[in-house]
Amino acid sequence: MEPIVDKFGRSFKTLRVSLTNHCNLGCVYCVDDAAQPSDVPVIAQNSGLAPLSTSQYIKIIEQLHGMLGLETIRLTGGEPTLYRELIPLIEGIRATGIPKIKMTTNGSMLSSKIEALQQAGLTSMNVSLDALDMQVYHKISRRRNLTRILDGIEKSVQAGIGVKINCVIMKGLNDNQILSLLQFAKERNIAIRFLELMQMGHLYGNFEDHFFSERSILQTIARQFEFKKISREHAATAKYYVMPDGYRFGVISNESDPFCNDCNRLRLDSYGNIFGCLSNNTAINLSQCLDQPQEIQLRLQEALTHKKMKFSGSKLSMLAIGG
Ligand code: GTP
Ligand code: 5AD
Repeated sequence: MEPIVDKFGRSFKTLRVSLTNHCNLGCVYCVDDAAQPSDVPVIAQNSGLAPLSTSQYIKIIEQLHGMLGLETIRLTGGEPTLYRELIPLIEGIRATGIPKIKMTTNGSMLSSKIEALQQAGLTSMNVSLDALDMQVYHKISRRRNLTRILDGIEKSVQAGIGVKINCVIMKGLNDNQILSLLQFAKERNIAIRFLELMQMGHLYGNFEDHFFSERSILQTIARQFEFKKISREHAATAKYYVMPDGYRFGVISNESDPFCNDCNRLRLDSYGNIFGCLSNNTAINLSQCLDQPQEIQLRLQEALTHKKMKFSGSKLSMLAIGG
């Protein structure tokens, strides 16, 4: 079988699967109004479509795996742990033979779910944690559940599941958290990645006001730690830096130094639309042709024609398109 590639020759081994466009946090970079209840769906390309059922997710994933030889499924959202059938879904994905099933989560539900997630076949998690100071955390997430999230991280580490921490850094809001977050992760030997804010959603027009670059992140870290750069792995979002004692941290510089050249990701939203890229909002729906492999392949190829070589922002928030 000819490998499926896009016009830039990129092949696709990671499918990011959004399980819902709801979230139980209201982070300032995703949601624009403190008064807006975060369980109201933000814009999604869902007119007339129902959210996918577990068996529909599995059917789509199986078909795409057959065409692409997927190596990783990453469950995202919204907040993926809000999906009611998360455990059966992970079990179903495991049965497809895809080797890695990962999840990106805000961590708020981990304490009670970690054992079941691990047993079902989840292989690792990225947990968002943008601050350690209660007030700063509350300002960003608009929720008071930092203690629960820290507990979830501790329990996950104890359970032996791979954990990485993601921190989106915003100027004047949580750049003062970089060193304490790094210290927290280093003490526990957890990998941490600092993310440049991406030009998305309601911040599309004025993200520069909040942008804190990789350069500034590294300058902040250099005040307290020595480190040097190590080479980026193929298709990795993060560049890593190593300290003299061997501890590594990463930076995801989507704006100042994007990794698009060797991007190997596709996205499926919770309504069955497939997207090549976060910057492209053309919804190509797969849920209506679940039993027609040729049609799925045609639609996959169409989605790839929209996949860009450079991230150029999106007026949709990550909630809507899938993180
Ligand atoms: P691993 O490297 O497998 O740990 O995961 P990841 O970094 O791909 O996934 P995660 O969900 O933790 O995403 C972290 C950040 O990577 C996101 O906030 C984005 O900034 C960036 N990212 C992930 N996928 C894409 C993508 O397809 N395009 C762009 N431009 N950025 C992405
Ligand atoms: N810029 C950068 N990162 C973002 N995330 C959500 N929105 C943005 C944005 N505008 C992060 C989440 C999560 C990851 C999937 O993306 O915090 O860690």
